[in-house]
Amino acid sequence: MDKIISLTKRRGFIFPGSEIYGGLANTYDYGPLGVEILRNIKNIWWDFFVNKRENIFGLDTNILMNPKVWEASGHTSSFNDVVLDCKDCKTRNRVDHLIEDYFQNKGKEVKVEGLKIEDLENIINREKIKCPNCQGFNWAKPKKFNLLFETRVGIISEEKSLVYLRGEIAQGMFVNFRNVLNSLSPKLPFGLAQSGPAFRNEITLGKLTFRTLQFNLSEFEYFFDAEKMSWKDQFNYWKDEMWKWTRDVLGLKEENLRWRVHSDEERSFYSQRTEDIEYKYPWGFKELYGIAYRTDYDLKNHMEKSGVDLRYYDSESKRKFIPHVIEPTFGMDRSLLAILFDCYFEDSEKKRVVLKIKPNLAPYKIAVFPLLANKPDLVVEARKIFEKLSLKYPCLWDDRGNIGKRYFSQDEIGTPWCVTVDFKTLEDGSVTVRDRDTTKQERVLIDSLGRYFQERLG
Ligand code: GAP
Repeated sequence: MDKIISLTKRRGFIFPGSEIYGGLANTYDYGPLGVEILRNIKNIWWDFFVNKRENIFGLDTNILMNPKVWEASGHTSSFNDVVLDCKDCKTRNRVDHLIEDYFQNKGKEVKVEGLKIEDLENIINREKIKCPNCQGFNWAKPKKFNLLFETRVGIISEEKSLVYLRGEIAQGMFVNFRNVLNSLSPKLPFGLAQSGPAFRNEITLGKLTFRTLQFNLSEFEYFFDAEKMSWKDQFNYWKDEMWKWTRDVLGLKEENLRWRVHSDEERSFYSQRTEDIEYKYPWGFKELYGIAYRTDYDLKNHMEKSGVDLRYYDSESKRKFIPHVIEPTFGMDRSLLAILFDCYFEDSEKKRVVLKIKPNLAPYKIAVFPLLANKPDLVVEARKIFEKLSLKYPCLWDDRGNIGKRYFSQDEIGTPWCVTVDFKTLEDGSVTVRDRDTTKQERVLIDSLGRYFQERLG
């Protein structure tokens, strides 16, 4: 964990937010390498779940919405964590995490999310769970804490100006359901997808970008006629697709993944069944993605509260009804984090650190070097190759230090191939191409480089 945190900062994947002012807890910024991986994950996600499917359509809805949206969705009343304030050191803690961490330290896996406040308080008192910050046992009464971020809209008079930063991106899809029916007239079943930031007033600290105040989500709502289709079949179909995405597309190792079903107490207020894909982070198996059967809960509530008819008209059966929905949801920041943990490899034989990330996710695909930076003929030839390859692939130029150091530096950031221009290049027009994972080198003619990478990267 420490090595990876150090790598992410040292090499420019992830930086602590506002660091020069002492930071802001639970905020992070992506550096030049992190932003490339994040974009790759988002683009490949969009390709896999939206562009390659004829009945999933994209949206890009606003972060700020009318506050009535969050009343109708239930978030203003039910989107809460139970927190405990320590009266001695004044830190705030999520009670479910306090209890789960306490049992985890004793080697037991216990889930208490969703239990009643009194039950949580009883466990804290029974087990005498202390404040993790000051080790005191002087808790205030536990209370509910709403996760929605509040802000103010300037053009509206003070008392009516309260709005929320969206706590989930799903509501943008529900409130546009009528617009999509009117404009695109899609036939059920169909999905509405979007990618974008969500905001939650999280109080749990640490673990890099695992739980942050602002995070990137990609998800879709898959609407279907619950009288014609079984929700269980839909649920299982999308579970399989999620697994394929996680294991085959992202390439995460199967032994680090598992499904976990939410208990009745733990499940979100809107869901009739929820399952998570959990990843084995260094701190144990925790949520990576989720899938929920949200029934007709959201559309029904929005229809009631807005007065707008959100029913779907089926011209074959002449029925008007509210579709049900399955929601697969994917945290993009957790995807990136899991990839970093999964791909980090210490090669003791070759004494190097390698990020064995899939080439299509890697921040840079190819690094180009002149063997020696002070030989103009080599530099000119290498520059020509770099410029040509850069037209198609994200490439890096490096002429610092010696060639061995450059290879190690590229291995650490996961660049799959390094191309070196040396003296033989000037004689026969060939370069060395070195493979990150095997460290094998082969000579390839400059004229064949385009085809060489086309075959490997597409
Ligand atoms: N619309 C459903 C929804 O938002 P969720 O389980 O609350 O479901 C979806 O969140 C995903 O977002 C999670 O599976 C996780 O990957 C990610 N996520 C949730 N809270 C997060 C946070 N505070 N920081 C980073 N990622 C988070």
